[in-house]
Amino acid sequence: MELQAIQTPWESIVEYRKLGGSGCSVSALALGTMTFGRETDEEGSHAQLDAFAAAGGTLIDTADVYSGGVSETIVGKWLASRPGEVTDKIVIATKGRFPTDTTDPNAVGLSRRHLDQALTASLRRLGIETIDLYQVHAWDPITPLAETLEFLDGAVRTGKIRYYGLSNFLGWQVQKAVDLAEARGLVKPVTLQPQYNLLSREIEWEIVPACESTGLGLLPWSPLAGGMLTGKYQRDAEAPADTRLSNAGTSSFFVQRSAAQRTWDVIETVRTIATEREISAAQVALAWVKGRTQVTSVIIGARTQEQFADNMAAADLVLTEKEMERLNTASEVPVDYPYGGMALLQRSRQIEGGWGPGWGR
Ligand SMILES: NC(=O)c1ccc[n+]([C@@H]2O[C@H](COP(=O)([O-])OP(=O)(O)OC[C@H]3O[C@@H](n4cnc5c(N)ncnc54)[C@H](OP(=O)(O)O)[C@@H]3O)[C@@H](O)[C@H]2O)c1
Repeated sequence: MELQAIQTPWESIVEYRKLGGSGCSVSALALGTMTFGRETDEEGSHAQLDAFAAAGGTLIDTADVYSGGVSETIVGKWLASRPGEVTDKIVIATKGRFPTDTTDPNAVGLSRRHLDQALTASLRRLGIETIDLYQVHAWDPITPLAETLEFLDGAVRTGKIRYYGLSNFLGWQVQKAVDLAEARGLVKPVTLQPQYNLLSREIEWEIVPACESTGLGLLPWSPLAGGMLTGKYQRDAEAPADTRLSNAGTSSFFVQRSAAQRTWDVIETVRTIATEREISAAQVALAWVKGRTQVTSVIIGARTQEQFADNMAAADLVLTEKEMERLNTASEVPVDYPYGGMALLQRSRQIEGGWGPGWGR
């Protein structure tokens, strides 16, 4: 692939936010690397990393299982080949938990044994001595939670990681992890990485409140719902070729989401706001996530340089309250007990007016 100078509509990322419950700051857009070594070759990946760092981006998210470890290797080569003045500012986040060797029953999960191996392998591929944010990729129903937390506490104390975070945990799992760490005097997690976008808002019912109560920052993944919110998919039409969702199979998010009226209502609202502002639909969808409560940094993903540049233009985009409200309304998920209606009771101790209209306000 021939590298071309990227015409960037942005000059720099201006906004930095606290990495959840830590004292570390990160850019409000993070660079996701799940496409690296898969849809995006090494040269294209390094071009994204260069442009991201040049714009002031600092948080890079990878995982041991992305492209079977190749994503971490590509990031590691980039770190090694760029001067310290570029890479010193970078905050590296990776993850462990999913199977790395299907012939080994222990090469999976959040056991001390597997995490020790997974973390060592990630450090080797990244070519660094310390990972800034080590994330457990999902809950493990088998390993005692205390075993996982003790391992992560030890990894902080021995300098292999600086902070740790959770990913794909439910609300009760977040609360339990934080409470257990606190009760045992262990280092606590600082972030949660969940799926969060205009088509996937269910985390707002229980998971976001758990993060608010425990001080965890959100690092939303798939902020464009895998590309669905870019406006390039049409109702009652096959997904265009050369897109992530075109090859995803019949059980895919695309097929499921296409069947829902709400999906197209949301996309229409995103498109309308984009047209009014003369920007892309992707930028509107990303700015919505960036503007939601408890969000630390939105993890963008791109197959091409053009997509990357388009998404980076959301770095300094702030939607008006009215635009946020229009998007909130279009994407609202119908909800009844216990999260709707009665949930308001939990937010108020008002007794005047009793149970009639107006309670809970
Ligand atoms: N913790 C977890 O379990 C988890 C899970 C998933 C992802 N992640 C992290 O989150 C990051 C982002 O996730 P994601 O890749 O699913 O994000 P996404 O933004 O929802 O989807 C990205 C995909 O959408 C398409 N796209 C992106 N920008 C576009 C644009 N401006 N115009 C048109 N199409 C565009 C591209 O796919 P096509 O061009 O191929 O259609 C691209 O690969 C990942 O890199 C990874 O770091 C974490």
